[in-house]
Amino acid sequence: MNNTEKRTIKKYLQKYSKNKNKFIYPLLEQTLSSDDILAGIKVMFSGQMTMSNVTEEFERKFAKFVGSNYAIMVNSGSSANLLATFASCNPSRKNKFKKGDEALIPALCWPTSLWPLVQSGLKPVFIDPEYKTLNVNADDIIKKINNKTKVIFLVHVLGNGTNVQKIRVFAKRKGIILIEDTCESLGSKLNNKFLGTFGDFGTYSFYYSHQISSIEGGMVVCNSFSDYQLLRTMRSHGWSRKIKLDKNLKKKYQKIDSRFLFINSGFNIRPTDINAAIGLSQLKKLKKFQKIRLSNKNKIINKLKKSNKWDNQFSFFHSSKSINANYFGFPIFLNKNLDKKQKFINFLEKKKIETRPIITGNFVNQPAIKLFKLNKEKKKFLNADRIEKRGFFIGLHAKPISNKILNYLTENLLKFDEIK
Ligand SMILES: Cc1ncc(COP(=O)(O)O)c(C=O)c1O
Repeated sequence: MNNTEKRTIKKYLQKYSKNKNKFIYPLLEQTLSSDDILAGIKVMFSGQMTMSNVTEEFERKFAKFVGSNYAIMVNSGSSANLLATFASCNPSRKNKFKKGDEALIPALCWPTSLWPLVQSGLKPVFIDPEYKTLNVNADDIIKKINNKTKVIFLVHVLGNGTNVQKIRVFAKRKGIILIEDTCESLGSKLNNKFLGTFGDFGTYSFYYSHQISSIEGGMVVCNSFSDYQLLRTMRSHGWSRKIKLDKNLKKKYQKIDSRFLFINSGFNIRPTDINAAIGLSQLKKLKKFQKIRLSNKNKIINKLKKSNKWDNQFSFFHSSKSINANYFGFPIFLNKNLDKKQKFINFLEKKKIETRPIITGNFVNQPAIKLFKLNKEKKKFLNADRIEKRGFFIGLHAKPISNKILNYLTENLLKFDEIK
């Protein structure tokens, strides 16, 4: 971007940015800067805005970055989960699940981690996560595997993960399909390998509040060429466009206009080149953002613990063994006076400190689970309940936290003891 362009974008940013954020410490500080916005605008001016070359470039660079053979961009992380799950039961796949098979999934998950499993006919079997790491323990997953288990749908929670390497060994041996929902953990590594790249499929989200953003957007990664072709077809109506077709199939259907040949079932969950351009521009900043967020996290913890008001009110979560985590949120657990949690949350929000539950809390407690009778046995998930009762999270910004904000945030957090 040359200096004139930079100045122009900055001018427009100042003019149109509504600074709508009513929070002093919001969940998220704008991470899209002039160059990301300009990348999107350039695509708009080019006239080629629907999915095309820029998306392909982002896919290539993303795959290379995470160390996967292939990446397919979609319009959200939820769509990435939908696509990976429906590809896993497609008739064209050798190893596929069928209706009524079981899928292991953590009780601490996002709705659209779970719903594609249910929508595709799988029976979810929930696993309690660990309290300290928020993630499922690999041995707990392995213990739950039985003859009906055909899918393991791991969810890497809030930048952290689990020993997916160990799970993969078991899954491979038993022919179980492994999907890694990495929508909250882009950039995190286990033993120096990116989470999301261990399983048959890994999914990512570039939603506005995540590690990097394309506003809305997601990605599926895989290593097999046939899965790649399948994902591309299913992403776009089941179309054969840009798919390497079998010679015999081409011959058999030569009476059909080859430009409009539909070879499988499908969705329309394509991204636009505008989102891809923004995502591509943001990908370059992933490592920088990770460093700053980690430093902000340490600053907040140190400041809290050094205060004379620190009375061991809170615990902070640990990343799992051998995980190098990339956080975008900062979970806090109350160590005592749990009945005051809601009052404390109300107090923080009043002080313009934005909070969120830890994902959704125990998802099994949600009304939608009852509606679909997904926990008829009324199984208990005690750690997920504990996380829901004790925990909440605040943002971790991708800009260095100022002393003023650090003081404001920590002073208000430490007022917990004063809440009546
Ligand atoms: C674990 C997990 N999976 C999937 C998603 C869905 O991603 P998106 O919001 O991009 O649809 C989210 C969203 O935050 C998530 O937290």
